[in-house]
Amino acid sequence: MKAPKPEATGDGSLTLHHPDYGQTYHSRHGAVTESRHVFLEQGGVGERLRAGAPTRVLEVGFGLGLNFLLGADLALAHDTVFDYAGLECALLPRRRLAELDYGRWLAHHGLQQALLAALPEQPPATGCIRMRHGTVHLELLLGDATARPWQGRFHAVWLDAFSPDANPELWTEPFLAALADALLPGGCLSTYSARGAVRRALQAAGLRVEKRPGPPGKREMLRAWRD
Ligand SMILES: C[S@@+](CC[C@H](N)C(=O)[O-])C[C@H]1O[C@@H](n2cnc3c(N)ncnc32)[C@H](O)[C@@H]1O
Repeated sequence: MKAPKPEATGDGSLTLHHPDYGQTYHSRHGAVTESRHVFLEQGGVGERLRAGAPTRVLEVGFGLGLNFLLGADLALAHDTVFDYAGLECALLPRRRLAELDYGRWLAHHGLQQALLAALPEQPPATGCIRMRHGTVHLELLLGDATARPWQGRFHAVWLDAFSPDANPELWTEPFLAALADALLPGGCLSTYSARGAVRRALQAAGLRVEKRPGPPGKREMLRAWRD
């Protein structure tokens, strides 16, 4: 795989371009802004953490760890348990994640260091990495997410794969149905995509789907509830 190149996004936070997928890991209009909007706020996780409700999250695509770090930072600020499971098939070497300096967006400066310390410099393709930092528990499940390696159910599912065209195996009807099954009653799946086929697959999986305003640069996104 060719090395991705760091890029500044609209809010000053960095992301990487992935040459094989032909996409950036986050919105060019603002990586941190997109993450907070789509996953923390629209996905209901921010509200839960601020209310002190222990929260289990499953993320499809750990990527550069930005969504995890922002969620974990909020959990630490509210002394709330954040139990996060991330799926990733191509974890980047630790030094490439360190270059993104996401610690500067966090109130808890030790958090990014704790994450980096838990990651190997050259990550294996498969296996499990665990980290505990205060009320934050991370479980990183390395390998193909379509093998559905998670266990149990979650208050939130963050569907943050590359786009359906670029990363189709993570947007199939059976995989979306498996993600819907992974939600606890009252749980919410959120994604930046507003594509009709995704909306219909989530509805077919029994979820109540809502279109919501997207982050900067995107008119709409989806969130879907297990009632
Ligand atoms: C858009 S990026 C995720 C960005 C991430 N959520 C963050 O906060 O930095 C999508 C991620 O999904 C991963 N991915 C793509 N296909 C996968 C698969 N079949 N199984 C597991 N991970 C996959 C990619 O390697 C990439 O890291």
